[in-house]
Amino acid sequence: MTTRAPSGALQRARADYEALQARGLKLDLQRGQPSDADFDLSNGLLTALGAEDTHFDGLDLRNYPGGVAGLPSARAMFGAYLDLKPENVLVWNNSSLELQGLVLGFALLRGVRGSAGGWVHESPKMIVTVPGYDRHFLLLQTLGFELLTVEMQPDGPDVDAIERLASADPSVKGVLFVPTYSNPGGETISEAKARRLAGLRAAAPDFTVFADDAYRAHHLYGEGERDTPVNLVSLCRDAGHPDRAFVFASTSKITFAGAGLGFVGSSEDNVAWLSKFLNAQSIGPNKVEQARHVKFLLGYEGGLEGLMREHARLIAPKFEAVYRALEAELGAGGGGYATWQTPRGGYFISLDTVDPVAGRVVQLAKEAGIVLTPAGATYPGGQDPHNANIRLAPTRPPLAEVETAMRGVAVCVRLAAEEYRAANGAEQPG
Ligand SMILES: Cc1ncc(COP(=O)(O)O)c(C=O)c1O
Repeated sequence: MTTRAPSGALQRARADYEALQARGLKLDLQRGQPSDADFDLSNGLLTALGAEDTHFDGLDLRNYPGGVAGLPSARAMFGAYLDLKPENVLVWNNSSLELQGLVLGFALLRGVRGSAGGWVHESPKMIVTVPGYDRHFLLLQTLGFELLTVEMQPDGPDVDAIERLASADPSVKGVLFVPTYSNPGGETISEAKARRLAGLRAAAPDFTVFADDAYRAHHLYGEGERDTPVNLVSLCRDAGHPDRAFVFASTSKITFAGAGLGFVGSSEDNVAWLSKFLNAQSIGPNKVEQARHVKFLLGYEGGLEGLMREHARLIAPKFEAVYRALEAELGAGGGGYATWQTPRGGYFISLDTVDPVAGRVVQLAKEAGIVLTPAGATYPGGQDPHNANIRLAPTRPPLAEVETAMRGVAVCVRLAAEEYRAANGAEQPG
């Protein structure tokens, strides 16, 4: 009986997979992008400014003057978004990743406030959380940082591990992570952990917390069913490290992806520090884009929060469809084949196979016409030591496709696991 059950399960999984392949699907769940319906919510942005809107905040949008920190009303709007005063915010152009790259680049060349010099001279290391966002790894490694990984836990990064690494080595210059509804697991850092990070004793006097708060307002559900975003800038100030935190965000998942606004919140001194460098390379950001975002978002019913509620109405059912499909195919709780997170916001669901078969699952899915984020993408160098984590991105396809694709993915999970178990069993001595 113990030998028959697995082979029966394998046969069933093979038959289900063949049936899946025969459907000739062509589905894509790899991209963490908004759907067309999400974009349509912001089409008013395209016409938010008229020919009469030549001036905004007393500035001529068509001309240079205005400074590098952004339009006053944009700083106020995104300051409120980050729970900060306008003076603590710099609004730049279309990408928060670009802003992260700029700040890190300036730090490498010249150091941040409190640095003896550019970090590049100290063989700098940066702590990242895993599973994490592949573009963070790409950015940091491209700039020359050595990456140190710590686990992302349900209440945020493993701060004990961060403390151990940061207190032992002055070349550990900081940590980069997603504080709210993290990519890919959807975890949100707790106030207690954020406070510890803010007060942490590091060997480097210029240890810096880089928080990519890309999903700060991306709640899937209503009040009472939301995670609470922290204010790292004020926590660091209260802990006696006023310049420790840079918090980045953008409207890429609010209005238009790659055609919105990136902004950063920090101490006033850090805003001045960053402005000095930006001022050397630019007379200022695109004020027209900033003005039309302010006008569009202020004019939206319920403001920015009203727009986020509309997104949630579109996105939450897709998350639910993922859970439904996985449970239907694998059984409650994943049936011993996989586990997954059920975040209350953000853009991703993190799936972990019980056996080390993530690569095989992604390959099987591809051969059945379902494209997933490459296995390993959530680890530096694309190498998941457990070969278990798969980032699911349900936002872009229509709801029906999400459900179909996820049932297919679950079939692949079952087949990969049964193959692995059969092969492993075969290797067991008689
Ligand atoms: C955590 C995180 N940060 C940043 C970005 C990209 O932001 P932006 O378009 O503002 O550069 C993404 C997009 O998926 C993301 O998941």
